[in-house]
Amino acid sequence: MIKKTVESAINEQIKREEFSSRLYLSMAIWCESNGFPGAATFLYRQSDEERMHQLKLVHYVNDRGGKAALMSLSAPEANFGTLKEVFEQVMEHERYITSSINDLYEVTLNEKDYTTGNFLQWYITEQIEEESTMSTILDKISLVGSDKSGMFHIDKELSAMSAAAPAVGAE
Ligand code: FEO
Repeated sequence: MIKKTVESAINEQIKREEFSSRLYLSMAIWCESNGFPGAATFLYRQSDEERMHQLKLVHYVNDRGGKAALMSLSAPEANFGTLKEVFEQVMEHERYITSSINDLYEVTLNEKDYTTGNFLQWYITEQIEEESTMSTILDKISLVGSDKSGMFHIDKELSAMSAAAPAVGAE
């Protein structure tokens, strides 16, 4: 049976993953209506992945005899100035998620819940991959600056990334 302290720390993470899904959905909507269909496809997919991260935690808590709980969420930002701004915010958000996963892992160590600590390893590895992918995308966007044809190619590349490879976070 999972301890209450661990259960409630995981429930906080469930909330953060749900917010991530909504944030990327909001970003995808902005991209789709601002001429970046490839980035929209990429972010719709990321939104789905975050929902999967949330669900994986929900099942884990319930399977360990706890009870997953949902919390109220504030609306994510809906307006972004540029594609670069979108991915800067993705990067910043993923760094925040990494730090929250690390904090959650620390709770499991303090509670000597090594089973949950072991389960969280998947998220720790996942965050390394996500930060690396987002950093690469951001570097490319920064490189082309405001060049329209460069932006067009990056958008195409994001679309290809969504189609060709398993999405970041896919099992
Ligand atoms: Fe599920 Fe990208 O954090």
